[in-house]
Amino acid sequence: MSSKGVLEILKAQCPTISVGVLTADLMHLGTELGQLAGTDVQILHFDVMDGCFVPMMTVGPPYVKGVKTELLKDVHLMIQDPIDKLDAYVAAGADIISVHVESCVHIHRVFQHLASSTNVNDPERGIARGVALNPGTPVSAIEPLLGELDMVTLVAINPGWGGQTFDPATFSRVEQVKDLAAKAGREVFVGVDGGITKANIEEVSECGADLVVTGSAVFDGNAPADNARYMLKHFRRD
Ligand code: DX5
Ligand code: ZN
Repeated sequence: MSSKGVLEILKAQCPTISVGVLTADLMHLGTELGQLAGTDVQILHFDVMDGCFVPMMTVGPPYVKGVKTELLKDVHLMIQDPIDKLDAYVAAGADIISVHVESCVHIHRVFQHLASSTNVNDPERGIARGVALNPGTPVSAIEPLLGELDMVTLVAINPGWGGQTFDPATFSRVEQVKDLAAKAGREVFVGVDGGITKANIEEVSECGADLVVTGSAVFDGNAPADNARYMLKHFRRD
């Protein structure tokens, strides 16, 4: 991975996919991730769940740190009260950290804290700061945060599991984010996460999102590289 900043890499890569590792074969994770080497996948998505903010529990900092990769680590924190835990994910090598607006009272302080965090992969790279919104949260919640954000992710399912059905209300929510960011004179990457499959990837590509997370459509137990190429091709409308 070049020493370019995370935001530069995102600018160069978007529209692109962030590949969720939740459904990868943990017994062969190195092999599964290695198969992505021949594709243009540049970002891995780590779903961190604590069983409190969302019903499911998944992985924590040791897992994120333990995945040795040149790809960007895109860490989606679905955890209650994340402020005191941010440094552990920074130390685990996060390049992008997305925090749920619903997960803590002092959400603005989360991004102030991340603004002064150093990327352990490469101090020059910086850490992209993202906010994530559940389907039931009004998009207006991002307004007070726009000055602190690099990315806004609309979660298109109720978070906790991969392989769920995409909520089509997400399309208008992407528009709302773009409108709010334009009004604020801010440039943010718009992400969509959850329920994106080979069946809907082209429809999703029309909504103007910069980045989509796709997990089970890539790691489906078959050919992750072919799946990733398909998702990239059809999202980019190559
Ligand atoms: C759900 C996670 C998503 C999910 C995506 O709570 O945030 O990233 O794992 O998986 P798919 O693409 O299988 O819906
Ligand atoms: Zn996610």
